[in-house]
Amino acid sequence: MKVAVLASGNGSNFEAIAQAFVDQQIQGELTLVFSDKKDAYVLERAKKYQIPRFSFTPKDFASKKQYEEALRDLLLANQIDFVVLAGYMRIIGKDLLASFPNKILNIHPSLLPSFPGLHGIKDAYNYGVKITGITIHFVDAGVDTGPIVAQAAVAITEEDTLESLEEKIHQLEHHWYPKVIAEITQKGVN
Ligand code: GRF
Repeated sequence: MKVAVLASGNGSNFEAIAQAFVDQQIQGELTLVFSDKKDAYVLERAKKYQIPRFSFTPKDFASKKQYEEALRDLLLANQIDFVVLAGYMRIIGKDLLASFPNKILNIHPSLLPSFPGLHGIKDAYNYGVKITGITIHFVDAGVDTGPIVAQAAVAITEEDTLESLEEKIHQLEHHWYPKVIAEITQKGVN
């Protein structure tokens, strides 16, 4: 099972996943990391784990379609079986989706369908909900939609600040994302 991670930023989830491969909590091979941001910190983390790193952006191409084709070609050329999004800040286009049906997983920092979009943690905090959490789901053509695989909840207490909530959410993510990836990839993906 060859796994690719797509990420745009800090890469703390990538690191939790990479460590789970090292610890053999996840079986198979973490084959490559791709980032659409050339200066993303995730690429530094990948270097530390000696995972092959690739980066290009839509601006390197004449169209978004060509960018996606290049990304799909990269994944296919490396015989990737399963794609994990970890803070990848772009919509997956239909060609890429068609090449990896039910084989692209995402994590979102809220209990979907509440608070989709870019600011799941902040939106939940500002709304004043008492419980929020994380959602791991397969990717479809929508934004933070697609079949839900797992959710985990956390209470927002009176003492919480946005920062403390972010910390709690990230801890949940780092605990659950590797576990769920391990389960899915072990079962095999169809
Ligand atoms: C995570 O909160 C994830 O849920 C969201 O983007 C964030 C990525 O964080 N999709 P990191 O780059 O893994 O630290």
